[in-house]
Amino acid sequence: MYRAPRGTSDILPQEQAYWRYVESRAVSLGELYGYQRIDTPTFEDVGLFSRSIGEGTDIVEKEMYTFEDKGGNRLTLRAEGTAPVCRAYLEHGMHNLPQPVKLYYVAPIFRYERPQAGRYREHYQFGCEALGDGSPALDAEVIDLAWQLFISLGLANLALKLNSIGCQKCRPQYLDTLKNYYAGYAGELCRDCKSRLKRNPLRLLDCKQPQCQAAADSAPKSSDYLCPECAGHFSQLKGYLERLKLPFEVSHRLVRGLDYYTRTVFEIQPESAGAQSTIGGGGRYDDLIGELGGRPTPAIGFATGLERIILNLKEQGIAVPPLAGPTVFVAYIGDAARDEAVALAAGMRRAGIGVIGAAGDKSLKAQLRQANSLGAGYAVIIGDEEIAAGTVVLRDMTTSAQETVPLNELEGRLKSASG
Ligand code: HAM
Repeated sequence: MYRAPRGTSDILPQEQAYWRYVESRAVSLGELYGYQRIDTPTFEDVGLFSRSIGEGTDIVEKEMYTFEDKGGNRLTLRAEGTAPVCRAYLEHGMHNLPQPVKLYYVAPIFRYERPQAGRYREHYQFGCEALGDGSPALDAEVIDLAWQLFISLGLANLALKLNSIGCQKCRPQYLDTLKNYYAGYAGELCRDCKSRLKRNPLRLLDCKQPQCQAAADSAPKSSDYLCPECAGHFSQLKGYLERLKLPFEVSHRLVRGLDYYTRTVFEIQPESAGAQSTIGGGGRYDDLIGELGGRPTPAIGFATGLERIILNLKEQGIAVPPLAGPTVFVAYIGDAARDEAVALAAGMRRAGIGVIGAAGDKSLKAQLRQANSLGAGYAVIIGDEEIAAGTVVLRDMTTSAQETVPLNELEGRLKSASG
């Protein structure tokens, strides 16, 4: 027997109410903030991801699904959503449009991670990217959008963590300071951190290993090493967030797992759990479009994992609206009625009434049980007697009340009942 590959899941019908609800909320909120939908291919040139996310990151080193197709092209399944959007922005000349260009997506993301609760090898992200504007007001808008999404879904006890990691001008000095600081702790660090110290020192700050906590907690803060431009940007952003009454906390250990960020980085985390369960994150990436061959173009965005939102909704006991079931189940007794039921069901569907037809030769009791489990509001029952009289039996599945209805009144009755 085959099973779904490790780290992937089937989203079964009983889960769909959560998925539709979360996705439709995200999409309508994105549109409320002026974002337009973009869909990019499921795979891209490997270089797009390795260049954008960064060679020294876990994603590029260990997690990408990269393969060679039959034409010898090296391709990677979408490892994140930002780089493909930047590629599309450049490829379609969107820098010629009024800026910023605001785009959102809902798409599966593929990362070869160690599966656990809330961490999968295929997950879905809703993400927003605002390209072509560097002002801190746009950072505030993106952070506000992310925060409002979770709040409007009813989630509580969330923390909004914020940091600024500077730019090409001021970060080198900070990284040197960080390396010097950590050199004093080299013997105590975990194995990953020892290698990060050489390749990606910022990532030392978000290590989860117990032996690295003390060093990370008292490490030099990037916000103390910002150049005047970055410092001004960060302070304006904080001013906007205060004005919007967003309850942010500056966290000097927040650095994110992708290398393209500049200045603003932020994450939204459930207060009770660790960073493992971050439900959304993003930041500014002012150099990325330039690195991909475009003119220097500031940009900011964020993304959230739909599975993690749903996990949190369930953990917090938040119910979602049920999906509308079919209106009518057509049941029959006997062979002649089965033939009649085919035409009856087709006629009702053409009239716009949602119908599930019974199948096989189950007893009436079994058919009604099926109608019940499918959530039908009504059952229409026909047998030889009804065919002869030109009627049907209409059963209200909630009250079990039954009545005989002339065939020519059935559609009207069902429409007025559902309307
Ligand atoms: P990210 O932090 O790697 O950022 O992923 C964004 C969100 O996707 C996370 O906060 C989490 O909710 C969810 N997520 C990530 N990995 C998994 C996983 N293995 N299983 C389940 N959920 C997961 C990015 O991808 C950036 N592109 C975000 C961004 C957009 N930055 C700027 N614009």
